[in-house]
Amino acid sequence: MRLLALLPLMAVAVAHVEHLEPRSQPGVPQPTPVDLRPLEWGDLNIISTTDTHGWLAGHVKEGSYSADFGDFASFLAHMRQQANYRRKDLLVVDSGDLHDGNGLADATNVSGTVSNPIFEKINYDALAIGNHELYLPEIAVDTYKNFAPKWGKKYLTSNTFIKDAHTNKTVPIGKLYNKFRMKFGTRVMSYGFLYNFVGAANNTIIEPANVTVTLPWFQKSLKEDVDVYLIVGHVPVRWAEAVSVINAIRAVHPSKPILLFGGHLHIRDFKAYDGRAFGLSAGRFMETLGWMSVSGIHDRACRVEANCIGKNLTVSRRYLDTNVHTYKTHSLSHRKQRFDTWRGRQITKEITKARKALGVSTVLGCAPQDYFLNRYPYTDSRSLLNLVTKEILPFSIVDKTRPYPTVVFINSGCQRFDVFKGAFTVDDTYIVSPFHDDFEFATVPYKVAKNLLNGLNKAPFQKRAEVQASSTNVTLTPGYVTNDDYGLGGDDWPHSPIPYVATPNYVSTDLPTGLGDNDLVDVAWLSFFTNLMAPLFKKLDPAGNYTIQPYRVGITTYEMWPIFAKAKWANATC
Ligand SMILES: *[C@@H]1O[C@H](CO)[C@@H](O)[C@H](O)[C@H]1NC(C)=O
Ligand SMILES: *[C@@H]1O[C@H](CO)[C@@H](O)[C@H](O)[C@H]1NC(C)=O
Ligand SMILES: *[C@@H]1O[C@H](CO)[C@@H](O)[C@H](O)[C@H]1NC(C)=O
Ligand SMILES: *[C@@H]1O[C@H](CO)[C@@H](O)[C@H](O)[C@H]1NC(C)=O
Ligand SMILES: *[C@@H]1O[C@H](CO)[C@@H](O)[C@H](O)[C@H]1NC(C)=O
Ligand SMILES: *[C@@H]1O[C@H](CO)[C@@H](O)[C@H](O)[C@H]1NC(C)=O
Ligand SMILES: *[C@@H]1O[C@H](CO)[C@@H](O)[C@H](O)[C@H]1NC(C)=O
Repeated sequence: MRLLALLPLMAVAVAHVEHLEPRSQPGVPQPTPVDLRPLEWGDLNIISTTDTHGWLAGHVKEGSYSADFGDFASFLAHMRQQANYRRKDLLVVDSGDLHDGNGLADATNVSGTVSNPIFEKINYDALAIGNHELYLPEIAVDTYKNFAPKWGKKYLTSNTFIKDAHTNKTVPIGKLYNKFRMKFGTRVMSYGFLYNFVGAANNTIIEPANVTVTLPWFQKSLKEDVDVYLIVGHVPVRWAEAVSVINAIRAVHPSKPILLFGGHLHIRDFKAYDGRAFGLSAGRFMETLGWMSVSGIHDRACRVEANCIGKNLTVSRRYLDTNVHTYKTHSLSHRKQRFDTWRGRQITKEITKARKALGVSTVLGCAPQDYFLNRYPYTDSRSLLNLVTKEILPFSIVDKTRPYPTVVFINSGCQRFDVFKGAFTVDDTYIVSPFHDDFEFATVPYKVAKNLLNGLNKAPFQKRAEVQASSTNVTLTPGYVTNDDYGLGGDDWPHSPIPYVATPNYVSTDLPTGLGDNDLVDVAWLSFFTNLMAPLFKKLDPAGNYTIQPYRVGITTYEMWPIFAKAKWANATC
């Protein structure tokens, strides 16, 4: 009776498969596991996210970053357990920008309608507002009316205000500050700062950080007796706004520990302002969890601050790749422990259901190759901006009914991510091109058109280039190689560096050929930078008087992608 004998074995096999299945989003790739160094725990430990931009489903095409928010919730549950076991305090913080960049957030009429309630299932201890919560008046109102109240004192907007339409009063969107005491005794004073963002909706006000820190409420808050200052901020750790807040606290407290969790530039970064003040940025798009641990904050001798000036705290920082192997390695106390929690599984299922309902997995076509935003010069056929300027703008944007040849200009920053070879989905349209920037045009002589790109790229622009080594290491998977104030070694997974090539701030379709200086050309551009175009026209042709009009009304930088993919990539099989 061999058959009977086999049955129990089969049952075991089935149970095994069942046990492995519900983790991350269905069918996503997992990375090949590597050995990771244990995290260093301190008296106070902080896990930080920033610039999540709706990527709560994780990266469904990239194993390194394939964990979703359900996995994140399970990870945090185990980390909080570890903290309890070690009798150490653990904080979980976010530095803003929840919108614009992923279908889960942006496929709803009001961005965030579906993704914000999922985000709210993570028990963050402190959160900051980002500039992407403030571009549109209705998003600002939604943040004020719906998002901020969910968090109460934990949503910190020390320098960001809204005009309440009902009371006509200008009020902070969240709270100015929050003082709290943690389970194992750490007393924290927390603030939330946004960089000096210009371009916010007109129902909001951003106060410069260097002004806020002079105000009576802020100075009064510095008189409270606490162990550590916590700043969550949608601000790069090296920018003047961050430094002004650190300096304002330092001016009153010469040796009190100060920890800042920043963001905005989408980079991994760590800065030591002095031996007792540190800042960390946790990358972007749920690719990175930032980890910082600090020891020495409960040193009794330091109650007299003068005693501890120049006495460095013991600090560690680490940038974790967001995949289940990372999460399991760092959070489980033994190998056999079950990783998925009930709550984590619920969140994973909810994300799967929401993605389905929103149709973000719908395949529009098949990308014939990879297109990278920053790995190759933009004139290279592997560059995404090359595809956009050579094929997408001419196909989706250029108005063929016009009598003149056309040049279209965009800022390269309006494109946000790589496109990978294979199925190109509705989700990808939001990922690569989330903004709804519309186009305008004017008809100008060729002599003006031919000088515009140069003129645009001379306009001032600020962005810190990512530090990237150029050698490759075939034994490692490509990924982040971060060089910060403590040098290399902050990245949790060893990676070979990905080449990084800076692109011009503005790019355009090819100039028409064979024209004389006075032949007419339509030039089209994004209304986002009309403020640069109008003065350029004046400069290049002082006598000219060009009429600026809307172009291809209803088609924006977002729509140009689905239009192109449905027409050009639909017939290929992936
Ligand atoms: C989104 O807006 C469109 C047009 O206003 C409307 O038809 C649709 O029902 C809305 N969808 C949701 C989910 O509210
Ligand atoms: C708010 O201001 C507007 C315009 O100034 C006015 O019409 C309205 O009555 C005011 N509302 C309240 C509640 O004061
Ligand atoms: C704010 O901008 C909107 C358009 O987005 C406009 O309708 C409104 O009048 C402006 N309000 C103020 C107070 O400037
Ligand atoms: C704040 O910084 C700005 C530059 O960003 C500067 O122009 C201004 O004078 C500063 N204000 C104060 C109060 O320090
Ligand atoms: C203390 O930290 C500061 C800032 O990072 C650094 O310059 C200094 O060398 C450190 N001192 C010691 C003794 O490690
Ligand atoms: C590749 O990486 C491994 C692991 O970090 C290292 O031991 C080796 O020296 C590296 N090889 C090169 C050529 O950089
Ligand atoms: C520019 O042209 C517009 C109409 O196209 C006209 O109203 C305006 O007066 C002109 N301005 C100058 C400075 O010529």
